[in-house]
Amino acid sequence: MPPWRQLPTEDLRALIAYIQSLSDPGATARMQEAAGLGKALFAATCASCHGVTGEGNGPAAGALAPAPTNFHLKKPTEERAWDVLENGVPGAAMPPWRDQLSADERHALVEFVRSLYDPPQEKEGQ
Ligand code: HEC
Repeated sequence: MPPWRQLPTEDLRALIAYIQSLSDPGATARMQEAAGLGKALFAATCASCHGVTGEGNGPAAGALAPAPTNFHLKKPTEERAWDVLENGVPGAAMPPWRDQLSADERHALVEFVRSLYDPPQEKEGQ
């Protein structure tokens, strides 16, 4: 077994998640469940500002400065997204959700908004 330190940390994490899912077939189902939960919660609670598809263009977005984040162009780190969902963004319309949503729900939302990232093609390979 050779060392695989040369792989980027993200790849190693993905590998570990995959290996764990092999020994725990329920994990994939749970991950899909969390993705569905994140999507449904986002549509119900976040879309008014961030838009149903997360492009930052919800019906309430026009009046807001700074504008709601477009998650297709910006992928917050897990830490940043978690912190924002706990505490909101001071000085912006983004409210805290600690009291409204459970930790599981907020985790599902962190995963969901990060999954939307889809930068324009020409940025690839930079
Ligand atoms: C009332 C409008 C509003 C609602 C509702 C709202 N947001 Fe926001 N959100 C904002 C604004 C405005 C910002 C941008 C703050 C900035 O650019 O500094 C923001 C920023 C964020 C960020 C930080 C992005 C980054 O990288 O800095 C995350 C994550 C986020 N929102 C997730 C959510 C989720 C998940 C929900 C639903 C639970 C939600 N928001 C509901 C207005 C809203």
